[in-house]
Parts: sequence; structure tokens; C-alpha cells
Amino acid sequence: MASTTASAAILTTHDLALTFPARGGPVEAVRGIDLTVEAGEILGFLGPNGAGKSTTLRMLTTLLPPTRGSATVAGHDLATEPREVRRRIGFVAQSGGLDPEESVHAELVLQGRFYRLSRVEAEARAEELAAELELTALLGRRCRELSGGQRRRLEIAMALTHRPRLLFLDEPTTGLDPGSRADLWDLVRRIRARQRTTVFLTTHYLDEADALADRLVVVDHGRIVVEGTPSDLKRRYGGSPDATLQDTFVAITGHGPRQQESAPLAL
Ligand SMILES: Nc1ncnc2c1ncn2[C@@H]1O[C@H](COP(=O)(O)OP(=O)(O)OP(=O)(O)O)[C@@H](O)[C@H]1O
Ligand SMILES: [Mg+2]
Repeated sequence: MASTTASAAILTTHDLALTFPARGGPVEAVRGIDLTVEAGEILGFLGPNGAGKSTTLRMLTTLLPPTRGSATVAGHDLATEPREVRRRIGFVAQSGGLDPEESVHAELVLQGRFYRLSRVEAEARAEELAAELELTALLGRRCRELSGGQRRRLEIAMALTHRPRLLFLDEPTTGLDPGSRADLWDLVRRIRARQRTTVFLTTHYLDEADALADRLVVVDHGRIVVEGTPSDLKRRYGGSPDATLQDTFVAITGHGPRQQESAPLAL
């Protein structure tokens, strides 16, 4: 979302990098990312498999310590105030962490308790979230009995328990049918509209990035290769505002979003 008021960044990174020690030599998954995200923005973080998207998200959500660089997330320093950061963010990881044997209701209440709500408050919040995310009819169902789209909605509901200012979603719609994807897009828009929650999402679906994101950041080989609004990128790299984002993506990265990381950059 273009902002005409003074900049209100909710996230900034400076030279953020992570190298995994691995057999066969270190893997430079993220090689120095400088990024600013404005409050209330929906940011699409794109890039081919292995580009470093999930690793970046795991650093920004305090799950992995960076090997270099710094970040301020929701007003707090990632390295020195990780607890303060965690209180203000929600994260839905690429592969979910639901307990297959628990009910939807139990998972929602447990999450409330995790965020130190009393039993009564946690019950009330579970009901509220279920209503907001259209899970009320599913409250008694076990997680293993949910469809992929329903599971995603539950994971997002859980991530919203503590009303985070910033929500990270790692490939929220992968594996969903077109109808469920469209529902999820509506949900993300509603979340942003209702509480002005900032949404930082990764996706491989370029139509999704085009439809949903105010701004796109494309990463490849652990670095940002380009950023701008979807129409900016289409004009600059796809040749015209009518270019598809698919053509634009190929022009930027030299390959389609699902191909492997070995293809050369065409910038
Ligand atoms: N725990 C780990 N140990 C070693 N290397 C890792 C580890 N996790 C990720 N990597 C490597 O880091 C690089 C970036 O991986 P990452 O998961 O961040 O990519 P991604 O952009 O999220 O890809 P995808 O689109 O496939 O989800 C890859 O080369 C990957 O193999
Ligand atoms: Mg990933």
C-alpha cells in the first residue's frame, strides 16, 4: 500500500543473513537482505524453491538466529528483544504443527492458554476466532479430519489469538483448490482491513501475488533481486502493464517459480 503519510515501518532488516553449517559445506541460504515493510501492508515475498524465503521468515519470527545483520520487528530488536517480537507477531509455517488427535476447539483454547489467557478468556477467544474464520461448525472435529483449507484456516486462527500486529504466512495456499484459495485471499484482506494487521506472505502463485499483495519482493539465491508493486514490476520487466506476472517473474529470475535454483539470473 503506497503511503503518503510519514513512513511507519513495522519491519526493517539490515544485511540479514544466515548460513547453515551442513555436510558437504556451508549453505548460504540468505545472503544479506535489506527490507522495509510498512504497517498495514500486504507484502508478497516471492522466489523459486530454495531461494531463502522460509529461512528469512524463520529468522524474522525468532526461530533461527541470523549469522549476520540485524532486524527490527514490530518495534523491537530481533536479537536483543525476541520475546517482545514474539508477542507482537503471528506465524503460520510452511508445514503445519497441528496435533492430529486434538479437536479444533482444544487447539484454539490451548493456544489461548499458551498466550497466558485464563481458561474463561481462552474459551471466549476460541469462540470469537472460530466465528471470524468460519470454524464454528468444525469445533468438535479432530485436526486429522480437516481438509487442507480448513486446516489452514485453523492455523491462521491460532496465529491470530493474541491479535498480532504482523502476521507471517509461509505459502498459505499451497495445495488448496481454487475456491479455497479465493476464500483465503478474502480472509487475508479481511484480517488486514479489520485491525490493519500487516501481512508478510510467501507464495509460488503469481496470480495470488498479483491479486493480494500491495508490494512484491522477489528473492533468488538468498538475495533480493527486485521489489515493487505488481504493476511496477510488470511495466519494468514484463514490457507492459498488461504483461502477466508469470512472464515478469521469468524475465526477473530467468526461470519459473517452481523450477530449481540452479538456473542463471537474467538480470
Ligand atoms: N536446516 C537446514 N540445513 C541446511 N540447509 C538448509 C536448511 N534449511 C534450508 N536449507 C537450505 O537453504 C536454502 C534456502 O531454503 P529455504 O527453505 O529458505 O527456501 P524457500 O525459498 O523457502 O524454498 P521453497 O520455495 O522450496 O519453500 C536451500 O538451499 C535449502 O536447501
Ligand atoms: Mg519455503
